[in-house]
Amino acid sequence: MFRIDIKIVAISLTVLYILMVIFFYYFYKHLVIKDAKQEVLTILNTTKAIRSYIENIQKPVIYKLKKEKKLYSEFFDPRLMSSTFIANSIHDIYRQKSEAYNGFVPYKYKLAATNPRNPANLADGFEKKILQKFRKKEIKEFSTFIKENDIEYFFVALPIDRNQKSCLKCHGNPKDAPRELMKMYGDKAGFHEKVGDLRAIISIKVPITNIVSTHIKDFFITISIGFVVFVLIFIFLYIIYKNNQKLQKKRELLLMHQNKLASMGSMIENIAHQWKQPLSQLSFAMANLEIRMKKGILDEEKLKEKIDESKGQIQFMSNTIDDFRNFLSTQKDKEFYHIDEVIKLSYQLLSSSIDKNSIKFISNIDENFKLYGYSNEIIQALINIIKNAIDILKLREIKEPAITIKTYKKDEKKYIDIYDNGGGIDVEPIDKVFEPYFTTKDKGMGTGIGLYLAKIIIEKNGGQISVKNIHNEAHFIIKF
Ligand SMILES: Nc1ncnc2c1ncn2[C@@H]1O[C@H](COP(=O)(O)OP(=O)(O)OP(=O)(O)O)[C@@H](O)[C@H]1O
Ligand SMILES: [Mg+2]
Repeated sequence: MFRIDIKIVAISLTVLYILMVIFFYYFYKHLVIKDAKQEVLTILNTTKAIRSYIENIQKPVIYKLKKEKKLYSEFFDPRLMSSTFIANSIHDIYRQKSEAYNGFVPYKYKLAATNPRNPANLADGFEKKILQKFRKKEIKEFSTFIKENDIEYFFVALPIDRNQKSCLKCHGNPKDAPRELMKMYGDKAGFHEKVGDLRAIISIKVPITNIVSTHIKDFFITISIGFVVFVLIFIFLYIIYKNNQKLQKKRELLLMHQNKLASMGSMIENIAHQWKQPLSQLSFAMANLEIRMKKGILDEEKLKEKIDESKGQIQFMSNTIDDFRNFLSTQKDKEFYHIDEVIKLSYQLLSSSIDKNSIKFISNIDENFKLYGYSNEIIQALINIIKNAIDILKLREIKEPAITIKTYKKDEKKYIDIYDNGGGIDVEPIDKVFEPYFTTKDKGMGTGIGLYLAKIIIEKNGGQISVKNIHNEAHFIIKF
């Protein structure tokens, strides 16, 4: 049958759920970084486009104006003529706007060059290495995670366009540069570049927490749905488990009932056996009365004596029937009972087979302790164990067969030992005898249910049963 251990299911589901949460955390992080990278690349490419516009469209217009003397030739204003300055300014505005609209998360933009005009744009060691890779055309874009002051950033970089001729006006020979530019920045930094050189990279740095926070809602929705699904799965399995348990209980009850019914045959034999003597005594008494009556010597005293004697016999027979009836009926309530009572009743219910096989039944009540539970069921368990002993003593034709039951207390525990001198149990491992349908008996002689039920009954009543071969004797030890 399909069996579920509900504790293992609960633990597995919890572990699975935690793994799912971890998985989705990294999944969303990856997804979010991928999205962020796309967004950052778009911004960087837009920046490149702006720089390209300044270089190829805006600056030629200014040079044309200078050539036509509409603008004096030494004019220089970074707001109009420095693509780096303009790009920086546009980024400042963009950031302000996007923060105001709660759109793309705040980021840091930087142009980094090895030979910058403005020292703020000097590449650090890390940026220099990237610039070097772009110069050697080893990579087309660059992205990575970096840590600065304990904050984790996502970093993306692109190279700016390589130097064109127009760039060298301000970055080539200092002599060609507008005077106002020299006045502003001096003649040291940002010169002596060549056409085709790669001067700088542009990069954007975004704090990871900012990126992740934009998608945190998706993550929580996912794990909440996951949680509901896991709870539903658990409830579903729990219902199956409960139904299984109910079925199992029903099956056990049915087996117990069948087990009792199977004893009916020998029970009837037992009743007959136990009634034999009282019946013959009754008929004796009747015959005695009849003779006396015929002879006319029946006095009142004799009549009363015989009636009392008969009443006693009838009472005995009635008790025997009650014992069987009680045993066969299902007990509703738990009760306190003495151990010697159940041992006596177990013996009585089996006495015919015990006597018939001349088995010595020794009941050794060291301690007549009390137990609480269903005495009827304990009798059934004891009967199953004693019946096995009778079977083995018969089968192996043991001389001087004996079955002993001993009760005692040890370390606050109550014990019932049942053993026989039938030669022990030939089963390896020995605990197999408690498995359902395990039998070594011929077909029709045993179903293998007896000890399985005995174990279930004893455990249900709060006890434990074990079995051992001691000096070639099978010992069943019941502990409460
Ligand atoms: N006292 C014993 N001595 C030797 N073997 C035993 C003893 N008690 C049980 N066994 C072994 O354990 C097996 C299982 O016992 P169990 O009572 O469960 O089933 P069964 O007696 O074979 O069949 P059922 O009780 O259903 O009629 C027996 O077949 C027998 O081999
Ligand atoms: Mg049996």
